[in-house]
Amino acid sequence: MPANCILGLETSCDETAAAIVRADKVILSSAVSSQIDTHAKYGGVVPELASREHLRAIIPVVRESLDRAGVGWESICAVAATIGPGLVGSLLVGLTYAKSISIVRGIPLIGVNHIEGHIKAVIVEAEFAGAGLGYPVVALVASGGHTHLFEMPGPGRYRLMGKTRDDAAGEAYDKVAKLLGFGYPGGPVLDSLAPFGEPEGLRLTMAKMKGNALDFSFSGVKTAMLRWVQSKELEGEIVARRALVKLHPRPSVEQWLSVTPQTTLDAIASFQQLVINELLKRLGEAVRETCAVAAVIAGGVACNAGLRRAATVSRVGCPVWFTTPGLSTDNAAMIAAAAWPKFERGEWDDLGLRAQANLKLA
Ligand code: KG4
Ligand code: ZN
Repeated sequence: MPANCILGLETSCDETAAAIVRADKVILSSAVSSQIDTHAKYGGVVPELASREHLRAIIPVVRESLDRAGVGWESICAVAATIGPGLVGSLLVGLTYAKSISIVRGIPLIGVNHIEGHIKAVIVEAEFAGAGLGYPVVALVASGGHTHLFEMPGPGRYRLMGKTRDDAAGEAYDKVAKLLGFGYPGGPVLDSLAPFGEPEGLRLTMAKMKGNALDFSFSGVKTAMLRWVQSKELEGEIVARRALVKLHPRPSVEQWLSVTPQTTLDAIASFQQLVINELLKRLGEAVRETCAVAAVIAGGVACNAGLRRAATVSRVGCPVWFTTPGLSTDNAAMIAAAAWPKFERGEWDDLGLRAQANLKLA
């Protein structure tokens, strides 16, 4: 059996993930152990708990990835791990495990930037489907930790065009959801409830920003939602929703609807519309500025159904590519996929490789 697979590891935040990607970029397996239930009761990720959960999960998740791929250690030609950005204690679990595998198996170690991983997942999937994207590409990475716009003049080349000045888009979803008494993570819940509301129901506007026109800011809309909550008598419904989360860690849409009046649904729809408009407006401007032939939207917020519906060619100015939702949120297939070109170019790392909480892509 040839050694033609990379084992990817991802432990930057609250998912412990391992995946096997073959040299022809076929994803043989992608195993993810989510810590959502651990963190949900705290309304966000608790770093110490995250590291401990990664330690507990890493070996079973790697075993699962090998089993599901139907390959043994002899098929693994390199091991790749996320080195940042992320929670340093969490990153260290995956990176240290990868170093151990590299020593024990005598195979190359490759460090991968988490943001590049998110972008690469979209590109690899599109190429695998037989569609070459062409360059330049504009990539929007919108997740719980990032909202960044990059120009990609060619494969593996990145130029930062804009980024959030305060909260990331996913963080805004999580904070607004927490404020309204919905569980963590907030993005999927608010996205599933937005279609039940009237997007013009609550007037939300963005303050004009000076400086780089491609920068984002989501703290204003978060504050506007806070003011709206304070101006209404929402205590009762918020308490009811918090009680629901305690009873069922992940309530269904019907259960949420039973404790969410129409005015709140309208506020959620208005919030979602504003975030989508902000993301697509900047993406469209970046596409025009660079004459990009393709746009990529990656990261957890790329799961957003409203965003996927709204990201049309006529709105953005070129075709927009997403991954299947399972590859948009944190996973290790994206890490193994991003490691392949580095492996092929011989860009291997040594054991001095370090985790970097604030690692930049460009
Ligand atoms: O990429 P990811 O899994 O982890 C980070 O690198 O941060 O992204 C997680 C973020 C969370 O903030 C979550 O609320 C958000 O992505 N998210 C969504 C949706 N699904 C996940 N935001 C909006 N709509 C969604 N459907
Ligand atoms: Zn991520």
